Amino acid sequence: MTSPSTAPSINMAENKLEAIRYRDGQLSIINQLKLPLVTEYDAISSVQDGWDAIREMRVRGAPAIAIVAALSLAVELHKRTFASAGDAAAFIKTSLDHLRTSRPTAVNLFEAANKLEALSAKLAAQEGATAQQVVAGTLAKIEGMMAADIADNRAIGKHGAEAILAKTGKDKVRILTHCNTGSLATAQYGTALGVIRCLHELGSLDHAFCTETRPYNQGARLTAYELVTEKIPSTLVADSMVSVLMKEKDISAVVVGADRVVANGDTANKIGTYQIAIAAKHHGVPFYVAAPITSVDLDLPDGSHIVIEERKGDELTHIFGKRLAAPGINTWNPAFDVTPASLITGIVTERGVVKKPDGAPEFDMHAFVQET
Ligand code: MRU
Repeated sequence: MTSPSTAPSINMAENKLEAIRYRDGQLSIINQLKLPLVTEYDAISSVQDGWDAIREMRVRGAPAIAIVAALSLAVELHKRTFASAGDAAAFIKTSLDHLRTSRPTAVNLFEAANKLEALSAKLAAQEGATAQQVVAGTLAKIEGMMAADIADNRAIGKHGAEAILAKTGKDKVRILTHCNTGSLATAQYGTALGVIRCLHELGSLDHAFCTETRPYNQGARLTAYELVTEKIPSTLVADSMVSVLMKEKDISAVVVGADRVVANGDTANKIGTYQIAIAAKHHGVPFYVAAPITSVDLDLPDGSHIVIEERKGDELTHIFGKRLAAPGINTWNPAFDVTPASLITGIVTERGVVKKPDGAPEFDMHAFVQET
């Protein structure tokens, strides 16, 4: 159900963009398909509503997808009653199985679903467990996810800002980012955009550049909106301008987000990330990935195993429902690409920055996760 709203998306008191609103079992999200021209909150009243919002990209961005999926389950858990602990756990499992089918590439959704499924099964298996205990334990876990994500993003911002300043040796830096990794893609603050926010807060950001990010235009519509709203000095460029931007505009570093970082550091992120990394290598510009540990998938050895979502051609041929491509043309629309570890300078997480072992072409994400 859509509830057109005149409520501003910015909480003016705190100057925070509230893309996901959740209070006492009630969930609504900003419909990101309409931003920045229209701010409209959609109510999410069921797991199916959550699934639809994710699939249609009314909410998008790896952490936000996981949070909205989990909160759509929380909404149902608040409303339902169950005959037994086993029934409650079975409902949670079925719901999570469905939510897992919404979008394939961002691992955060699967990580959250696996944790919630294991927790509810464990609670149900306890001697004398009741349905209320299973529901209460699962709700507590889900409702803690937003706060945890915000804290992680703040830490990522700090680690990323420090790493970029140390690497470049500059007092003020000029940063290029791609796609949207800010408050609209996370619970708040953002990952790569969190690094830019932190540099700005420190007085160390000279300028931010964001790419348009065709075909869905997350950069032009969403990142530009966040940057302008927060008065961060920034400039929009088309995706095709990245190489000349690096040649002529003194870019200090690139920082992007991630949908999945696998064991060797190969990283799936928004389509176009790979070509930016190649351009960065050519121009000697450090290239950072900023992502929480929930985006790390240690089960996959390298990027060739990542499932890349392909979306409908309409996103290429149309903008805001208006056709711009010649009718009859074929389309290919992979939503993500994989940047090989060899092109990545460092992976910024809430636990610190992962660096390659001396002389190694790849990262050892297993070692980092175990040691931190
Ligand atoms: O298709 P999207 O908009 O969900 O893709 C988003 C991205 O690729 C982001 O860079 C990534 O999810 C990181 S968001 C903190």
